[in-house]
Amino acid sequence: MSRPTPASGPHAAPRTAVVWTVLRGELDRRAGQPLTVLDVGGGTGGFAVPLAEAGHQVTVVDANPDALAALIRRAAEAGVGDRVRAVQGDGDALAGLVEPASMDLVLCHSVLEVVDDPLRVVESVATALRPGGAASVLVAGRAAAVLSRAMNGHLDVAAALLADPEGNAGPRDTLRRRYDAESASTLLRAAGLRVEEIHGVRVLADLIPASAADNDPQALLALELAAAARPPFRDLAAQLHLFARRTP
Ligand SMILES: C[S@@+](CC[C@H](N)C(=O)[O-])C[C@H]1O[C@@H](n2cnc3c(N)ncnc32)[C@H](O)[C@@H]1O
Repeated sequence: MSRPTPASGPHAAPRTAVVWTVLRGELDRRAGQPLTVLDVGGGTGGFAVPLAEAGHQVTVVDANPDALAALIRRAAEAGVGDRVRAVQGDGDALAGLVEPASMDLVLCHSVLEVVDDPLRVVESVATALRPGGAASVLVAGRAAAVLSRAMNGHLDVAAALLADPEGNAGPRDTLRRRYDAESASTLLRAAGLRVEEIHGVRVLADLIPASAADNDPQALLALELAAAARPPFRDLAAQLHLFARRTP
């Protein structure tokens, strides 16, 4: 699996740089062609609007009408309202909202940990992709959640997270499940997607003192990019990014 090259420009924030670096690889591979992009659970458009600014046609499907209203405002302010379509709907029922096999790229970021049936969502993602199209999937990492609970002294919660097969910490947990590289890959493969790359996102960003991040964001960025593809660092990241493809 390849290591990302250093990111630059507006998408170089340490917390998202790895994801943008992988996405940029796919956009570059398509040699500047305008792509059809679907962002499932895309929220207020943190990824959708920059992709539209880069010339791509982006559809955001999200269950939350308030998030979609914010997305529409943000797209209009960026001057790309004509390239962003906001659709209220459920990620596991995309067939009625999006033409099957019509998307070059589908994003599904920070969604699989909160939905009722993650396999149905991933199957919907695969159905929306044209053969050869790519999926960008970001999920919460289980190991980082166990470590952070333990480091904060919540040993009972850490133990519950470690023991639960889904990586859930109990009734007060805001996420229904978390993943490791193997469980996330298995899920994507079950939907017929071929996993090409796995990176850790926020390997160290959440662990270092805020002052270190503020004083030298470039050093943090370089460290994040260097550690992102390398186990065991990758596997301790707060989030895991999987880049997968629908086989032709
Ligand atoms: C944590 S936010 C992530 C937003 C965005 N993808 C990002 O990475 O910044 C989760 C989003 O998923 C949406 N969502 C949750 N369940 C959903 C579902 N079943 N179908 C569609 N969207 C859903 C929420 O409304 C919310 O906007």
